[in-house]
Amino acid sequence: MKRFTFLLFTFFLLALATTNCRMSEKPVEKKEVVRGVIAKNGMVVTANPYASEIGLQILKKGGNAFDAAIAVQFALAVCYPRAGNIGGGGFLVYRKGDGEVGSLDFREKAPKSATKDMYLDKEGNYLTDLSKRGALAVGVPGTVAGMAAMHEKLGTLPFADLVNPSVDLAQNGLQLSEYDAGRFNTYQEDFAELNRFEIPLLKEGGWSKGDSIKYPNLATTLALIRDGGRDGFYKGKTADLLVAEMKAGNGIITHEDLEAYQAVWRDPVVENYQEDYRIISMPPPSSGGIALVQLLEGSEFFDFTAMGHNSVESIHVMTELQRRVYADRSTYLGDMDFYDVPMDWLLGADYLTKRFGDISMKQKTNSQDIKEGKVEVIESVETTHFSIVDKDGNAASITTTLNGNFGSKVMVKGAGFFLNNEMDDFSAKPGEPNMFGLVGAEANKIEPEKRMLSSMTPTIVEKNGELFMVVGTPGGATIITCVYQTIMNVTAHGMNIQEAVNAKKTHSQWLPDNIILEEGAVDDSVVEGLKALGHEIDSRPSLGRMEAILRLPDGRLEGAADYTRGDDTALGF
Ligand code: GLY
Repeated sequence: MKRFTFLLFTFFLLALATTNCRMSEKPVEKKEVVRGVIAKNGMVVTANPYASEIGLQILKKGGNAFDAAIAVQFALAVCYPRAGNIGGGGFLVYRKGDGEVGSLDFREKAPKSATKDMYLDKEGNYLTDLSKRGALAVGVPGTVAGMAAMHEKLGTLPFADLVNPSVDLAQNGLQLSEYDAGRFNTYQEDFAELNRFEIPLLKEGGWSKGDSIKYPNLATTLALIRDGGRDGFYKGKTADLLVAEMKAGNGIITHEDLEAYQAVWRDPVVENYQEDYRIISMPPPSSGGIALVQLLEGSEFFDFTAMGHNSVESIHVMTELQRRVYADRSTYLGDMDFYDVPMDWLLGADYLTKRFGDISMKQKTNSQDIKEGKVEVIESVETTHFSIVDKDGNAASITTTLNGNFGSKVMVKGAGFFLNNEMDDFSAKPGEPNMFGLVGAEANKIEPEKRMLSSMTPTIVEKNGELFMVVGTPGGATIITCVYQTIMNVTAHGMNIQEAVNAKKTHSQWLPDNIILEEGAVDDSVVEGLKALGHEIDSRPSLGRMEAILRLPDGRLEGAADYTRGDDTALGF
């Protein structure tokens, strides 16, 4: 990409010289230096302290990063039930200490009897609730198959040792944080409405910080997985209970769907960025890897270091890049097993030069001019990410999800775990937005046994051929832009990894045609400068919840949990 940089940067400087937009004038502040947790022998960064502790103990016992990741995935199903799961799916991107890279797709699939129009009424109207709430919203879960496949290929400790801590945690119970209690309280009505029994998360009068909760049925289910591996979930008692839940709630997943589910090893997206870096990220059915690389390579056309972090110019250019990348996402991306995603073309220098060549520094581009569409809704953003590195440099980057908070909100009676509402990530009706406001097309239409398009972007970055960064975040459509900015914060803005994680983020996604600023991201002069370029501005209290690890030049690991936005915890030794 470098050969195009000079030309475009010259264009950028000329445009900048003629623009009359107000430049951001940030007062020089004395900044407090923040650092992550620094350790030599291993690092676990997750959204929850119980999960981080369980992962750390596995590393201390001599398990590798992949053993610890399996243990963390099961732990999050207990201590972080809004997104941690065994009833959902996710993606692993890995890099072994010897440099081997790969990715594992344990994304949910549409049931065999799913149809393109299953969420439309007779007149073709999209019944939006059906793909979000209740049993019909559930995709065939992939997590347990994913953990079993990961263990078979990459694990070293016995599988039972990795599940056991979570059996104990579910059996003995745990204490809720303020965040947990608040989240449980928000969904009390949904839990009552969508379940046919008193789920453990229901509590009269609501939950408070420090309350204890136990999950005995979940403990039994986890014990079956511990003893039976994937068959302990996709066959036998748990499968019977899951199918019974479907029958009770108008869902369509059958025993055949469960037994047929397979996690898939895929070649990751691997592309160079600048001279020193190599990006390793998730291929379709995630849009994350392709979109992230497009954004980073597009960024090479501009001098972000000179523009400064969260200045008018840098937010404007990021927005213009994102507008184009998300339009591509909506048009071209879907499950590669069903749709011929033009990956090489989308990542080719010719295409990207043309795609980003019309970005003006004088005014925004209208999203409608990039491609037609009309979107309004944006709902809550969930999912969770964890990053792990062990003493041998093995790195696991996993993003895992139920989709919405607590997924479909349906807990399997007798089995104690939540089911996802991942079917909403399909394009139920081309041109209509899903819960993240994302518009889809033919590439992501519903088909039997297809995987729904995702934005999850578990990523590993190498620098000069060595492990450099492990990074990811929850956030639906905002995942890609938050991962992108965290990488840019380090590579272009000179932040350490904790600063990069803490830094306020911005987001735009083609449609809706606006920029979302995390509260506190910029001062008024920047907002005015962006408006002068034609941008519509919106804000959100929070964007992303990064969990990242950076390998320092001396080989030590710096773990940066997003503790300013949640209970996120980095633990190293
Ligand atoms: N369910 C959120 C995602 O996969 O992007």
